[in-house]
Amino acid sequence: MASIGWSDQNYWTDECRAGDDGRVSTDPTFADVRRAAEVVARTLPPTPLQGHPLLDLSLRERGLATSVLVKHEHVLPTGSFKVRGGVHLAATLTPAERAHGLVTCSTGNHAQSVAYGARLAGVPATIVMPTSAPAVKRDAVAALGAEVVVRGTTLGEAAAAAREHAAGNGASFICPTDPRIVLGHATAYLELFEQAAAETPLSTLLVPFGSGTGAAGACLVRDALAPGCRVVAVQSDAAPAGWRSWRSGEIETAPATTRASGLATTTGYELPQRLLRERLDDFVLVSDDGIDEAARLLATRAHTLAEGAGAAALAGLLATEGLVGTVAVVCTGANASADEIARLAAA
Ligand SMILES: Cc1ncc(COP(=O)(O)O)c(C=O)c1O
Repeated sequence: MASIGWSDQNYWTDECRAGDDGRVSTDPTFADVRRAAEVVARTLPPTPLQGHPLLDLSLRERGLATSVLVKHEHVLPTGSFKVRGGVHLAATLTPAERAHGLVTCSTGNHAQSVAYGARLAGVPATIVMPTSAPAVKRDAVAALGAEVVVRGTTLGEAAAAAREHAAGNGASFICPTDPRIVLGHATAYLELFEQAAAETPLSTLLVPFGSGTGAAGACLVRDALAPGCRVVAVQSDAAPAGWRSWRSGEIETAPATTRASGLATTTGYELPQRLLRERLDDFVLVSDDGIDEAARLLATRAHTLAEGAGAAALAGLLATEGLVGTVAVVCTGANASADEIARLAAA
């Protein structure tokens, strides 16, 4: 079986195109992450991994005996770590994808990432977004030159419409958990663990969870570079499909009413769940109010304006007792809507 790597010509994901053409492959590996990192580094700068003494002080005031390093992924173009997936995708498009263009579905940051990648590669992209996607994210996708189609109220409904659109137009549907996307996202964690190794060993890494691509990438890299570090996923209790799927070992669905649009998935996704099943150390749920509290701390103690999904990892830290040593959280995104910013300021 051929392994998936950025130089391979043909890709698919089991949940997206399985059975279409009988191609087989294996799951992404750490070696694939290293190759992806070389590709991504040609376009994107590394992001800082930083401590914030004032944030540490706030943790101590809450009785938490850890210091925290924040990986500032929100400073990337498009304002989120997801752009790494789009950049990697752009370098690994198949001839058919180049010829007929891309279609995907997203509540916002995967959308911007694919739009960014499509622009890099010079191919057309159509992004199907549900009505629940914030207007600021729809505008950002359009500003990157992609066509925005608004369909359905949830990500699940938008996904069905995106597949239909792709089938009707001969374009390629890009699943949000396409292995090329997972590998692109994983490069954030290669960077993080290499940066941490130069500073201090990490006891725990907290990662926000929507579809699970970031958490899966984190575990792949942790296994290779920092086996002593626990990886903990954090999802909103108002969108627990990924949490339920990980706990049961089956793909499960759940309503997604969370205010954190980046976490608003309604189903578990096969590839990340498979990668995480044996690797992820723990998975915690946090409330949307807890996410807001974390976002306020980032804004006032770490000069970082995060969107809800970007603050979720810190919310997971605040909700977990017994953490020790140095903990890392990933601030994955900064695309907060005006409403979100006003809510943070109002408290
Ligand atoms: C800012 C942000 N953080 C975290 C996530 C969750 O990432 P994943 O879908 O890889 O679990 C998303 C998903 O879109 C996001 O936009």
